[in-house]
Amino acid sequence: MSERLISDTLNRPDQDLDVSLRPKQFDDFVGQAKVRDRLELAVDAACARGDVLDHVLLSGPPGLGKTTLAHILGNSMGVSVKATSGPVIDKAGDLAGLLTGLERGDVLFIDEIHRMQKTVEEYLYSAMEDFVLDIMIDQGPNARSIRLDLPHFTLVGATTRSGLISAPLRSRFGLTNRLDYYDAENLQVIIERSARILDIEIDNDGAREIAGRSRGTPRIANNLLRRVRDYAQVRADNRINRDVADRALEMLDIDRYGLDEMDKRILETLIHKFSGGPVGINTIAVSVGEEGGTIEEVYEPYLIQEGYLVRTPKGRMVTDLCYQRLGLKPSGTDEMTLGL
Ligand SMILES: Nc1ncnc2c1ncn2[C@@H]1O[C@H](COP(=O)(O)OP(=O)(O)O)[C@@H](O)[C@H]1O
Ligand SMILES: [Mg+2]
Repeated sequence: MSERLISDTLNRPDQDLDVSLRPKQFDDFVGQAKVRDRLELAVDAACARGDVLDHVLLSGPPGLGKTTLAHILGNSMGVSVKATSGPVIDKAGDLAGLLTGLERGDVLFIDEIHRMQKTVEEYLYSAMEDFVLDIMIDQGPNARSIRLDLPHFTLVGATTRSGLISAPLRSRFGLTNRLDYYDAENLQVIIERSARILDIEIDNDGAREIAGRSRGTPRIANNLLRRVRDYAQVRADNRINRDVADRALEMLDIDRYGLDEMDKRILETLIHKFSGGPVGINTIAVSVGEEGGTIEEVYEPYLIQEGYLVRTPKGRMVTDLCYQRLGLKPSGTDEMTLGL
């Protein structure tokens, strides 16, 4: 896609910021209570047995805390975390290098695990299950396989597209967890925590205002906080309250309800091209120029959770709330869309 969406920059990991604000232990990890409880229990149980933690798969839209949790798992098990990402491992040899460099109990974190090559993925099966790697060396008549014994390790995989994880890979994870969007209260807590770390003065209402416009996503909340801080520094003697937050976000064109450009593109397409639906996901995908699966797993969950979109047997439909929020009227009542 040629055009850069503002939302991409807002939800782009910023190495420095991510590292300083990233919670290091379960206690600092806000929200996602169910996921946190399950993982904490698994860690406690494994630690008490002196065992290695089971393989963990984390899925969910970008910016919700998958990488953070992978590191928290390593920290709380008291082991090292080696991080890589699916597309980076392009041959079995790379995987062998990573795996043989681990010590017992270590976490191998593979981000975007759905983008790993099929051929590499197949090697992972025996590594995860039996902690061995059968590598083919040489070719033709001399071809033979050698078996490498691996230390017992924990694979933590992260994916935004759980639908693309093959059944054999999925079945080798002992724990699978999906992260959900955060509600405004939890985002407010996250913003207040980040403000303390970054030494930013912000009051409750200011934090709430930013929280409500963060699209349920901690990474966006942290990025907005930084941008509002810049504004406050130059225009409002370094203090963030509701009015300052509001003016700053207005200036940055951040939607009042936290919708990003792709969200709006999806909703407007549904309204303008398909009279509000119902329309199949693939038709929407073609119209907005995004993959159907990505819409389904990355964008749509937020729109459904917030009540803009509903799934019906015939496809997706926008709701009355959606028309209201976009300042439009349902077709039939709006002269602009009559007759389309
Ligand atoms: N539950 C949480 N509590 C506090 N901060 C969080 C939480 N989840 C995510 N964050 C913040 O959001 C940023 C993005 O999270 P990250 O784990 O990188 O997301 P993902 O890997 O899912 O894209 C982190 O650097 C961290 O500062
Ligand atoms: Mg990540």
